[in-house]
Amino acid sequence: MTPIKKIGLFTSGSDAPGMNAAIRAVIRTAVFNDIELAGIMRGFEGMINDDIQPLTTKSASNIIQRGGTILKASRSEEFKTAEGRDKAYKNLKKHGIDALVALGGNGTIKAVKEFGEEHPDIKIIAVPCTIDNDLRGSDFTIGYDTAINTVIEAVDKIRETAESHDRLFIVEVMGADSGMIALRTGIGVGAEAVMVPETKSDLDALYARLERGRKDKTSKIIMVAEGNEPGGAFQIGEAIKERYPNYDTRVSILGHIQRGGKPTCMDRVLASLLGVAAVEALIQGRTGEMVGLIHNEITFTPFGQSVKHHLDVNAEFTRIVEMLSL
Ligand code: F6P
Repeated sequence: MTPIKKIGLFTSGSDAPGMNAAIRAVIRTAVFNDIELAGIMRGFEGMINDDIQPLTTKSASNIIQRGGTILKASRSEEFKTAEGRDKAYKNLKKHGIDALVALGGNGTIKAVKEFGEEHPDIKIIAVPCTIDNDLRGSDFTIGYDTAINTVIEAVDKIRETAESHDRLFIVEVMGADSGMIALRTGIGVGAEAVMVPETKSDLDALYARLERGRKDKTSKIIMVAEGNEPGGAFQIGEAIKERYPNYDTRVSILGHIQRGGKPTCMDRVLASLLGVAAVEALIQGRTGEMVGLIHNEITFTPFGQSVKHHLDVNAEFTRIVEMLSL
């Protein structure tokens, strides 16, 4: 086994709170093990455009508590082309980089899978960072806990005004094709209903739920994941207005506030555990895997299996939302 000399570290795709804590863990573990580090700016874009800078232990100072990513993030169309990946490979070689730690979600893992297969001399470990919590191979992804706490803080406020005005609110949360934020926060805020993209939306079932609820309820919250089918929160709002003209209905889109903010302690600790494990895995010669935490144990899942398939929504969560919000 050839020992690794220099790790290239980057954040890619959507940012997620806790990425900086993971960056810190990777830097400090590499320094502890006398391995050199380079920060690749803006993910694959920096690899292609040679925006690669040295990272030192000082680079990791005072970042554990900050949202966003000091390495910046982007989605690269050029990296999807063979020419783009070839430029990226040449730049990595020029800098003497023989290993990568990739912080990102589904798109990032798909991209490094392809890159690693083309260039097996570069060892790659991915660390799951996405607020969507939609990867196989880790019970939770970095950023999810912070995002769901941001959501419940916002929806608790919406509940107060909804209660004052006897209103029904449709609250749209992120999750282009993942209902994990909507479902968990639906329980957390005591929502009357949750609509997620993993299951076909059934407006009749939603009406039935609304009609089955207590008649003396003054506020109602329906949590909708942005990728939900009938076309998002506004369309659902229109359908409800038409069906129940007596409801005072409002739509609230929470948007990108879910991606920012100081990471929670859970996210900082998860990021620290996975960041350390990523570097130690490279030292042990592992490659082509995503590090994760399952039942509190560090695990490694091959890239091909960790990328998103359509996850089964937790039927128990749906049952609980419906039973507890009568
Ligand atoms: O991947 C996280 C995510 O928040 C998705 O749920 C969402 O659709 C997407 O990012 C939006 O990202 P952007 O606005 O940066 O394109």
